[in-house]
Amino acid sequence: MSGRTKNGNSSSDETSRLVDRFGREVSYLRMSVTDRCDFRCVYCMDEEMTFVPREQVLTLEELLQIADAFVSLGVKKIRLTGGEPLIRTNVTKLCRDIANLDGLDELVMTSNGSQLPRLAGDLKEAGLKRLNISLDSLKPERFKQLTRTGDVAQVLSGIDAAKAAGFDKIKLNAVILRGRNDDEIEDLVAFAIAKQLDISFIEEMPLGVISEHSRAESFMSNEDVLARLQQTWTLSEVAGRATDGPSRYHSIAETQTRVGFISPHSHNFCGDCNRVRLTAEGRLLLCLGHEHSVDLRAVVRANPGEQAPLVQAIVNAMDLKPERHFFDHSNEPDIVRFMSMTGG
Ligand code: 5AD
Ligand code: SF4
Repeated sequence: MSGRTKNGNSSSDETSRLVDRFGREVSYLRMSVTDRCDFRCVYCMDEEMTFVPREQVLTLEELLQIADAFVSLGVKKIRLTGGEPLIRTNVTKLCRDIANLDGLDELVMTSNGSQLPRLAGDLKEAGLKRLNISLDSLKPERFKQLTRTGDVAQVLSGIDAAKAAGFDKIKLNAVILRGRNDDEIEDLVAFAIAKQLDISFIEEMPLGVISEHSRAESFMSNEDVLARLQQTWTLSEVAGRATDGPSRYHSIAETQTRVGFISPHSHNFCGDCNRVRLTAEGRLLLCLGHEHSVDLRAVVRANPGEQAPLVQAIVNAMDLKPERHFFDHSNEPDIVRFMSMTGG
């Protein structure tokens, strides 16, 4: 394919924009580069998972081609997710190629951190700007229970490697499950303060059928997390929201740390949603809380090397973006696909 690189021959096609039926402009794409992961977090996966057969997963070339099409349509920010994006072979090269697309402002990533001791420096050098790293516990045994396979020491050294590599920003993400790790809320924030990082708390979402715990019993609202933190720290809400996400931020007095709250249950930010997601198999999801999707892999494979049909399919897909979603806290998953298929 002919990527429109910053240095290469740009085909100077008129940049159009992606606007849905409700006037929302889509400027942010989250791409899952693999549905596989080296962890099996209890809220994300079952212990035994069937992953997508490799031939059904987009190749690195196809991922780049799709990223290129979105950027030509005005997408300014791309987040690579998984599964765990860093277990995909040659992901650093993919980062470099996407970061070089003409018109993209920011390439960022969500990772579990396990491969960062090995890859942090290369990723920074490839043009990755920011990292979100998941961290639900600081205790080795508990971390192992929650992730089933993870080693917290490796993730902590991954965080240090990312700091040393000098990313623009590193943020921690924590999912709090009542009765499982809610006793670590303060410790996680203290850790973020000590490392001068931001931290976001994410409410567990009903994505995928899991048998390990009852989502209804483990649900802990971010309001409860905030109330707990206020007993230890002085928090002040940062005016407005970050323009690029559903997090609401509070700063912690006398520290450089901000605490974000991502509350898909208690708050619904669909009204100004600017994002779409691509699964590892190339399905374009228009909303996290709906099953509508468009098979971009089919379009790419039916039209090798041709950008126009792909661009048209993406433009047409905008009509499927729903106005809003609803989650409830019951045990019934609203959505049968797992987060690892969805693209975090
Ligand atoms: N609910 C909330 N967060 C989830 N994550 C994965 N599955 C779920 C879920 N069902 C989180 C991970 C990671 C981010 C990519 O999404 O912990 O921080
Ligand atoms: Fe892997 Fe992230 Fe899912 Fe945990 S939450 S199993 S790290 S994809």
